[in-house]
Amino acid sequence: MNDVVGKGSVAVITGAGSGFGREFALLGARRGLRLVLADVQADALQSTLAEVTALGAEAIARAVDVADAAQVDALAAATRLRFGRVHALFNNAGVGSAGLVWENSLRDWQWTLGVNLMGVIHGLRAFVPAMLDAAAADPHYRAHIVNTASMAGIVNPPLSGVYNVSKHAVVALSETLHHDLALVTAQVHCSVLCPHYVSTGIHVSQRNRPASLANDAPATRAQRVAQALVEKAVTSGKVSAAEVAGMTFDAIEQQRFYIASHPQALVGARARAERIVAQQGPYDPFAEREGLRDSLRAALAGQGD
Ligand SMILES: NC(=O)c1ccc[n+]([C@@H]2O[C@H](COP(=O)([O-])OP(=O)(O)OC[C@H]3O[C@@H](n4cnc5c(N)ncnc54)[C@H](O)[C@@H]3O)[C@@H](O)[C@H]2O)c1
Repeated sequence: MNDVVGKGSVAVITGAGSGFGREFALLGARRGLRLVLADVQADALQSTLAEVTALGAEAIARAVDVADAAQVDALAAATRLRFGRVHALFNNAGVGSAGLVWENSLRDWQWTLGVNLMGVIHGLRAFVPAMLDAAAADPHYRAHIVNTASMAGIVNPPLSGVYNVSKHAVVALSETLHHDLALVTAQVHCSVLCPHYVSTGIHVSQRNRPASLANDAPATRAQRVAQALVEKAVTSGKVSAAEVAGMTFDAIEQQRFYIASHPQALVGARARAERIVAQQGPYDPFAEREGLRDSLRAALAGQGD
């Protein structure tokens, strides 16, 4: 056990306006953490700030686009000024993209990789050096970083190539971070959060897409089919975002690296690894759901329009 998520510790949370980020903030407030909340959506951010303040938390909120390195650097400066050292960093902000991989626009790639991957990279660059300085200065100091990836960072479902790539990169980055930290300190640890479908605002990510990265062309049939699929899966998720926040805080206390919200979904991870080792074709995500494959093929072919 450690006090990284205990009373008085400082937590920085990106994507704090909704979903997992908001639940990290609420749980943090209940535990007496001091909070730095960041999100690109100002109204949602202010609403989380009001909620944590009502719970008695000391908190600041900053409108930040995590895809912009200078804005994340400014967040780190504001954090240092207000609270000094950071104990928990949640690189959590993320967006979804769907469709056949060759149909995604350059802007789909730029937007999704900008938020989901570069956002995490900017968070590490802006906050980790100061954590290591704090560790060197104080043997009692402990810190923990949680990067939010996805089950889509472990397996590769079809119709979500851009998102899969962004999340696999976050898993790779996090595993490497774990190894790199272990080479230089025993006081700073990290985890990678890999949720399966959970009901949040992720299926309506386009609400926060910058106009400069908007698509000119309307969504293709495949993108509409994929969007409907994601919406159904997300909104019917049985595990809540609050439960995932609880699992995440438990994992921080236990210094556990992989955090899977739906352990049963890891059957895909095992099957994928076995097929890699056997040098066979990729794991078939429809292996036990032939009906879904057939209905997707029909939808992509425009049957039922
Ligand atoms: N909900 C799921 O089923 C699920 C599954 C796997 C992974 N995830 C991941 O969980 C993380 C949190 O998403 P969520 O499900 O809570 O969705 P959400 O939409 O409810 O919350 C995401 C938050 O990130 C913010 N955000 C978006 N772009 C941003 C940017 N450029 N800069 C700063 N903030 C930005 C949004 O405004 C929003 O408040 C994401 O990384 C997502 O990919 C979600």
